Amino acid sequence: MTKTFFIETWGCQMNDLDTQRLSGGLKLRGWRRVDDERRANLILLNTCSIREKAENKVYSRLGELRELKADRELQIGVCGCVAQQEGERILARAPWVDFVMGPGNVGHIDEILAGGKTIAVDFPEDRRYDYLALDRPSATKAQVTIIEGCNKNCTFCIVPTTRGREVSRPFGDVLSEVGAAVDSGRVEIELLGQTVNAYRCPVSNRDFGALLAAVAELDGVRRLRFMTSHPAEVNDSMIAAMRDHANVSRYLHLPVQSGSSRVLRRMKRLYTREKYLETMQRIREAIPEIHFSTDIIVGFPGETEDDFQQTLTLIEEVRYGSLFAFKYSPRPGTPALKIGAPVDDAIANERLTRVFELHERIKRERLESYRGRILPVLVEGPSKHDPAMLSGRTDDNWVVNFVADPCTPLGSMLGVRIHDALHHTLRGEAVA
Ligand code: 5AD
Repeated sequence: MTKTFFIETWGCQMNDLDTQRLSGGLKLRGWRRVDDERRANLILLNTCSIREKAENKVYSRLGELRELKADRELQIGVCGCVAQQEGERILARAPWVDFVMGPGNVGHIDEILAGGKTIAVDFPEDRRYDYLALDRPSATKAQVTIIEGCNKNCTFCIVPTTRGREVSRPFGDVLSEVGAAVDSGRVEIELLGQTVNAYRCPVSNRDFGALLAAVAELDGVRRLRFMTSHPAEVNDSMIAAMRDHANVSRYLHLPVQSGSSRVLRRMKRLYTREKYLETMQRIREAIPEIHFSTDIIVGFPGETEDDFQQTLTLIEEVRYGSLFAFKYSPRPGTPALKIGAPVDDAIANERLTRVFELHERIKRERLESYRGRILPVLVEGPSKHDPAMLSGRTDDNWVVNFVADPCTPLGSMLGVRIHDALHHTLRGEAVA
């Protein structure tokens, strides 16, 4: 009888991709994926620990799954960043778990299932990566890891612990994977890394800009995106590759975290407010239509009202199209635990609200500016809300729902006239 598995995924694109790798690897070995955990012989929880009490969420989910074991052959595995962070503590607290597997071991799921290891939280030298066995959920888009791990030591962040030191994949491997993805119809490529622009080819030492240009020049790559860049790693080669290749998305997510140089120093972000703004200015000069996006943390220990004001003025100055803001959340073992006084929770909440209110206004202005314009849109599939419409993205990464010939092939590029700007999407109609 075919064995079945169920995977639940939390967190970032890296985790999504790890799920695609786990699922692809299992399918290749004859397993079948199911959507109902009660019908699975293997349940994998691919967990995230970036913020909040992620550990608690995992333990409460494990509590629910425990009873499923009573009446069936079932293995339960905890994967992802909580697995890495908690290690054997998970088996102590939830002994019905069969194995704990960190992000470094995704390529080693075979051995783990064969019963070799119950705690796999190392970062093996040979990080197996079988890109022909990826279970990609989209017919038009492929995510491709170019660098794993993070060598920065931001004082608030758990990632260096959970994903290890940076390891870049060789240029040739990345190009082969992209080529294979394009051959399978994935015309949109997203290069992934926790600090994607810190990429350095381990063979030739070529940098991120060189890789971006090389991928952009491959036949069939209609659109190229990447996530997530670190401001201190932006260089001329990266900017030139973006400027000189029309298929590179006019979208850049560049987390600033805070607008106060004092806070940035305490976060160990490796740039000041002035340096960050100067970087943004350079990029904007090269690519005037760029859509900037960012992450903000409010309530970092010791953040004063004055520090916070500087975050607000920076947001005003850059005019981000998209912004993700979070309340600081203490993570186990991070240096920020010992830095300065915690900010009162009510104050942190209020700051979060003020960031969102300011950004809403800026975003609205940007979205309104598209009204009446014709934008190139890459068709991804039917619209989620109205299946009579199609959905896709502009080259500066806004979702557009539009009226068009329903037989339009997925992955094609259409001109769409924008009629409406909704809360965070655009609406329009394809033009001939
Ligand atoms: N508390 C709050 N936000 C955090 N982030 C990372 N670590 C923390 C933390 N301890 C946010 C940062 C990062 C995004 C992915 O999550 O803004 O860019």
